[in-house]
Amino acid sequence: MPQNTLTVIDNRTGKTVEFPIHNGTLGEPAIDIATLYSELGCFTYDPGFVSTASCKSEITYIDGDAGILLYRGYPIEQLAEKSSFLEVAYLLIYGALPTKDELHGFNAEINRHSMIHEALRNFFNGFHYDAHPMAMMVGVVGSLSAFYHSELNIKKKEHRRISALRLLAKMPTIAAACYKHSVGMPFIYPHNDLGYCENFLNMMFSVPAQPYEVNPVTARVLNLLFILHADHEQNASTSTVRMASSTGANPYACIAAGIAALWGPSHGGANEAVLKMLADIGDVKRIPEYIARAKDKNDPFRLMGFGHRVYKNFDPRATIIRNACHEVLQELSCQDPLFDLALELEKIALEDEYFITKKLYPNVDFYSGIIYKALNIPNNMFTVMFALARTAGWVAHWLEMKADPLQRIARPRQLYVGLDKRDYIPIEQRRAQG
Ligand code: CMC
Repeated sequence: MPQNTLTVIDNRTGKTVEFPIHNGTLGEPAIDIATLYSELGCFTYDPGFVSTASCKSEITYIDGDAGILLYRGYPIEQLAEKSSFLEVAYLLIYGALPTKDELHGFNAEINRHSMIHEALRNFFNGFHYDAHPMAMMVGVVGSLSAFYHSELNIKKKEHRRISALRLLAKMPTIAAACYKHSVGMPFIYPHNDLGYCENFLNMMFSVPAQPYEVNPVTARVLNLLFILHADHEQNASTSTVRMASSTGANPYACIAAGIAALWGPSHGGANEAVLKMLADIGDVKRIPEYIARAKDKNDPFRLMGFGHRVYKNFDPRATIIRNACHEVLQELSCQDPLFDLALELEKIALEDEYFITKKLYPNVDFYSGIIYKALNIPNNMFTVMFALARTAGWVAHWLEMKADPLQRIARPRQLYVGLDKRDYIPIEQRRAQG
């Protein structure tokens, strides 16, 4: 019997079917069940895709038990220490670290596309001043579809590449504009002589009335956070981008779908929720009360920034961010009582039986909000920052998927548990449902 197969016996009929098992370069193998329905007339049922690999990918690898995260094979710790966000974006998109010339060219191309169409700037005026920046970002990024018609033929490789770079280049401009609109300040145009992170900070914090100089510490930390958030294989938002893209939707619409998925508190919205939770706790004395609530099955409260579908030991990004938090708060000379509270909360939770047995550890979002706060980024912009960085991963996955000749529309099936077929009832004969 061949080794790389799984034999399934259908106890209803006695039929035996063999399914091939594919081995990846690293990680768990996957059973190829594409013929399951035609062979056995049934589907697999896996809510939340706990045991389902939705695609093959060469971009990012996670070993959740060992706390390993690799972008194109490079450990996140090395990239965080030595690389720049744009270099990482290049790596994710093209699969290799750039040479000096390649990085220079990439940088120049990103700069060339960093402005947004003047008409797009008007879109912001349609939003109320207190609109959540994520609401604006979903809308405005989706609206990019209304421009660039001449380079929107996704069957052409060059059109796909330019669209991906446009998204990467315009995201800081759009993110900063979301903030400026929310505080009623004029938008600042991008400056091509600034680096990616410096440019974003300048658009965020400078005002026409006075000079502004980017703090190099702030730019360095932002670069680190962007690298850590750049990709995370088939997470909910990336899978959403892939799902939308499988229909042939344009890249701007696909990334807008990804941004919408990221917004939820179980995903990218957790960084905003963590700071809110820490502010609610307010005092170390109240930590046990919140730990008890997190453990209470009848209370919907969860410890935000804790737990992960894949990491069951530690999230390597959280370790890097926690260390960075110490340095940043010191370098920027800002004491933050919320950081002390977070450290204490982490300590208490990690000693608690509930969190130990369920393998719940701090994730990337537990400390990222504290750093963003130290950089003067307001709470409601935290998830926007995440979206900005994750765009690198989203476009890399979108490009990978579009180049795959086996790609088909993503169309899951269901286990129908509704009512059986029944006849239409005239309105005068219906009874109220109660
Ligand atoms: N606090 C308390 N209990 C938790 C938590 C938490 N943060 N996370 C999971 N659990 C419990 C959960 O109640 C369940 O218990 P039981 O087995 O008794 O029903 C068990 O742990 C497994 O949880 P799950 O919800 O089935 O696990 P999941 O893999 O479906 O969800 C998660 C993962 C990240 C959505 C979840 O851990 C969570 O809601 N965490 C808080 C939100 C958060 O920090 N999200 C950011 C994730 S990392 C960044 C990103 O992806 O964007």
